[in-house]
Amino acid sequence: MQIPTTSADTATIDHDFIPEIELGLLAENASISPKFLYDPLGSHLFTAITLLPEYYPTNTEKNIFTQYQDEISEAVGIGGTLIDLGAGNCQKAESFFDTLKPSNYLAIDFSVEYLQDALNKLAGKYPDILMQCIGMDFSKELIIPDSIAKTKRTFFYPGSSLGNFLQSEALELLSQIKNQANDGGLLIGVDLMKADSVLMAAYDDPLKVTAAFNLNILRSINSHLGSDFRVDQFRHKVKVNHADNRVELYLEALENVTVSWPGKLRTFKKGELIHTENSHKYTIESIKQLLINAGFESSQIWTDPKNYFAVIYAK
Ligand code: TRP
Repeated sequence: MQIPTTSADTATIDHDFIPEIELGLLAENASISPKFLYDPLGSHLFTAITLLPEYYPTNTEKNIFTQYQDEISEAVGIGGTLIDLGAGNCQKAESFFDTLKPSNYLAIDFSVEYLQDALNKLAGKYPDILMQCIGMDFSKELIIPDSIAKTKRTFFYPGSSLGNFLQSEALELLSQIKNQANDGGLLIGVDLMKADSVLMAAYDDPLKVTAAFNLNILRSINSHLGSDFRVDQFRHKVKVNHADNRVELYLEALENVTVSWPGKLRTFKKGELIHTENSHKYTIESIKQLLINAGFESSQIWTDPKNYFAVIYAK
C-alpha cells in the first residue's frame, strides 16, 4: 500500500546536523538550536512576527533607523562592503543603500534558499552594488571568505540577534567581527531590559503567530532528522529570567509523548520542556562594556523615547 507523504516527510535527511540535534534532544534538559526555527515556513512566520504590534523590537529599531538615518550614516561613512549578518529578507540593509552607498553587499544567513530569493529581487534594483550571499552558521565561527573585497567592512547586525547568544558566545562573535572589519565597524541593534508585561506580550502574542513560529521548529527537526514530532502535543511557553537578563523560549509537552527517529527515541513527560531560544536583554552599560571587551574602541548610541531598544555604531 502506498502511504501518502507530505513534502516535509519526503525532505532529504541532512546528516550533517543529526549529531547536534540528537545531542540536544537526548540531553536531560532537552533543547533544539534556534537556527532550526528558520526553515522556509519559519522564516515567513518570523517575518509575520515582525509585523505584530506587540513585537516592539522591529518597529522600534526601524523608527530609530529612520529618525537618525543621517547621523548613523555619517558615523558609518560611505562605500566599502556592507556585510549583513542574518540578512533574512534583506529589507533592513536595503534601507541604508541610498545613504551608505556600499560598493559591495554580502548577505549571510543560515536559511540560504530564502536569502537567495530576496537577493535576486534586490540585485535588479541596485545594479551598481555587487551582491553576494553565503549560507553560513556564524554562531559557531564567522569567517569572511578571501574572495570578499578587503576594503572597509561595515558589519550590520540588526534585530538584537546578538541577544540569542550567551555572554561568552556574544563576546567571541563581536571579537571576530572587530578582527575582520578592517577600517570599518559594526552597526548593531540591541534590545534593552524592560517590564515583564511588555516582554511577555512580545514573545507570546494573542494572535499566536509566535506560538506557531516556535512550534514549527518541531516540523523543521522532523525534516532534518526523520523524527515524528507532532506539533499538537506541545505548546509554546515563555519565561522571563531576571537573574540571567533574558527571555527564555520553550515547548512544553501537553501529554506524555514518545518521539522516535531512525535508531533512537526520546520520551517527554507531560509538562516537560524543550528549550528553543534565549533572548538576552542588555542595558546601555552592559552592551558598552561587552563591546569594549571585544576590542571596540568607541561607540555611538541612538535610542527611542521609551528606551526599549538601542542602535549602536562601534569602531
Ligand atoms: N531573535 C528573535 C528574538 O529573540 C527571535 C524570536 C522572536 C523568537 N520570537 C521568538 C524565537 C519566539 C523563539 C521563539 O526576539
